[in-house]
Amino acid sequence: TTGSMLAAGVMHRAAASPTAEPTTADQPFSVPMPVPVTKRPTRTVRGTDLYRMAIKPARVEILPGKTTAVYSYDGQFLGPTIRADLGRPVKVEFTNQLDHPANVHLHGGHVAADSDGFPMDVIEPGQSRTYNYPNLQRGATLWYHDHAHHMEAEHVFRGLHGFYLIEDGSSARLGLPTGAYDVPIMFRDVQFDENGELLYQIERDTILTNGKVQPFFRVGTRRYRFRLLNASTEKGFDLVLGDGEPMTQIASDGGLLPAPLPRTLVRLSAGERQEVVIDFARYPVGTQLVLNDARSGVPVLRFDVVRQEANRRRMPTTLVPLPPMPRATRERDVDFSFDLSGFPVGQVNGKPYDPDRVDFTIKRGSTEIWRIHNSDPDGIDHNFHLHMTHFRVLDRDGAPPLPEDAGLKDTIYVPAGARNIRVQAHFPRYTGKYVFHCHFLEHSSIGMMATMEIVP
Ligand code: C2O
Ligand code: CU
Repeated sequence: TTGSMLAAGVMHRAAASPTAEPTTADQPFSVPMPVPVTKRPTRTVRGTDLYRMAIKPARVEILPGKTTAVYSYDGQFLGPTIRADLGRPVKVEFTNQLDHPANVHLHGGHVAADSDGFPMDVIEPGQSRTYNYPNLQRGATLWYHDHAHHMEAEHVFRGLHGFYLIEDGSSARLGLPTGAYDVPIMFRDVQFDENGELLYQIERDTILTNGKVQPFFRVGTRRYRFRLLNASTEKGFDLVLGDGEPMTQIASDGGLLPAPLPRTLVRLSAGERQEVVIDFARYPVGTQLVLNDARSGVPVLRFDVVRQEANRRRMPTTLVPLPPMPRATRERDVDFSFDLSGFPVGQVNGKPYDPDRVDFTIKRGSTEIWRIHNSDPDGIDHNFHLHMTHFRVLDRDGAPPLPEDAGLKDTIYVPAGARNIRVQAHFPRYTGKYVFHCHFLEHSSIGMMATMEIVP
């Protein structure tokens, strides 16, 4: 049933590009925005933090006064947040308590192939598996989510998503907001039926902000760091504060930018992150500021300035330089398309995903330029996600990168008509098989994914 529903959805989109009517809460801004709990390690052994997490069905309160059946990490619709430190390894033992295979991918993580959640490398029902996360990369906002072959879209839709934050000491050194002033926020779309149960379909009319519909968040008159993630399987967001109040972008997928960038709009395609600082010192106590998704025209969050507080540190004028990118020695093409001649099939370079095929063989330690293309004739958008490493966007069809391409990226928007988005990536450290794919997970789950093998 899942397959045919997907097929219908993809066909529908291809034919008519429908936009569902956005809905709002019965009473907007009547529930507080929860902050996902930070998980504590069960043990620490010789400097490695060990965690245990269950992948399991749960009933959770998303809509006020109702419960909804979801898939969860540890019973929470937004999985618990893991906070890790540079150079301090984390091991997470996931136990699959669903009645079908699942696995876990650390999106943005530089990890060995056997801990990357390769689509065929699944945890069978009742089984456990330990993933090793060495945290040998710049501080960044990562997230973990399901990546089981053909099931990733539905699994993520049903709730298998959570934050994983790596800190490398820069935040403290730069005086960026920490603790209760450093807040991860996950945006995603969803569809409920009349009983408040999830309806897995392509058309979705509701946006969740940390798992609630149009919540409010109480702030003081000072700076906050918000780690914004789009965990939708396909929907993009254009986040605007009020009528275009200032925000300051400090980081993207792969960590801090070289310098803060003023923004009035934060554009996130599925899977992307941006971190912004908002300084509520500009607003008197009593001010209410609505964060809107300008794309769907829906308010998604209200900041209520409720107390006087002071900024104790200055906003830094520079952040962390990007690492040098070695000269590229190879160029490749990555072309996303659909074959809609029968049952819709997603393709990379004209072929659907085949876990037994290696599409690119890459030498470990090398640097490459990939040219990303969207050759769909029907005006279907895609995006591009690369596992194991981060890349920089060089240009888009000969024009400079977009604001949302700034910094180190692992996911970028590849709109309909994009002919040649050039990205440059370095492939350090690990060997083995990893995937790259369209992060519209309904597309990757029906084939828009390919395998690279990194060889010594
Ligand atoms: Cu966030 Cu291969 O996925
Ligand atoms: Cu796609």
